[in-house]
Amino acid sequence: MQIVGEVADLRARVGQFRRAGETVALVPTMGALHAGHVSLVDLARQRAARVVVSIFVNPTQFAPTEDFSTYPRTFDADVAALSGLADLVWAPAHVGVMYPTEFATRVRVAGPASVGLEDKYRPHFFEGVATVVAKLLLQCLPDVAIFGEKDYQQLRVVERMAVDLDIPVTIIGAPTVRDPDGLAMSSRNAYLGPAERASAPALHAALRRAAADIAGGAVIDAALSRACSAVTTAGFAIDYIEARNALTLEPVSSPADGPLRLLAAAKLGSTRLIDNIAV
Ligand code: PAJ
Repeated sequence: MQIVGEVADLRARVGQFRRAGETVALVPTMGALHAGHVSLVDLARQRAARVVVSIFVNPTQFAPTEDFSTYPRTFDADVAALSGLADLVWAPAHVGVMYPTEFATRVRVAGPASVGLEDKYRPHFFEGVATVVAKLLLQCLPDVAIFGEKDYQQLRVVERMAVDLDIPVTIIGAPTVRDPDGLAMSSRNAYLGPAERASAPALHAALRRAAADIAGGAVIDAALSRACSAVTTAGFAIDYIEARNALTLEPVSSPADGPLRLLAAAKLGSTRLIDNIAV
């Protein structure tokens, strides 16, 4: 497995794959890899001959108040986790490789990036994500790129952006990997103290219950308000727990507006967790 830090080296290596007639998959990450990330790499292996994993903590998707400086950086362990699974690690040597001082472009997506979920609580987030993912896709020009359903709105935004910009890539969504107690794996779970970690699975449990209730005929608002009570009782401060159309992310009032997806974001202490589930 080779590690490259400059765009020219990435392009040269991917060019070699292409000349050998090999298909290429890209798995974009911010590092601090866990089993959820590894599942994306496994899926990438099934979908292409060569797998490129990018590791870049993207400053433009963090608000000044967010955790850019303290975001976990575990590069050596990440490389160890990828060895034998990925063919190439694309780790820009420094921030200036992605964003030179004269950098002046932003990719702004409306549609799924403007539905009042993550975009409401992190107003600059999707502009940062769309900009860096557009760059990663254009730098690597993979056949397929894999994104986790864990960040469900992000998956929909990236799909929209790739289609809108005619980037010749197929975006593939991968299921959420969870700890045995149901908590969705996340690099940010490392921030949870022991008591918070013990309460954290309540978010997924409440979503599962609500999804089962709605599938069983319960009124959506009633099922969601029960979920809110359970999550609040577990100690979370809720940003949102909502039912949306799984494809457009637009609000729904009945299962007839489906397919439905339940999406949630809530804070335990200072750690913000997100999760989502199909109905
Ligand atoms: P990051 O949070 O590192 O996640 C990288 C990829 O792993 C994303 O597609 C995310 O949805 C997926 N992922 C995270 N936790 C997962 C889990 N428990 N199960 C399955 N997949 C999971 O998302 C980002 O980085 C960034 O926004 C990025 C797309 C790299 C742009 O900077």
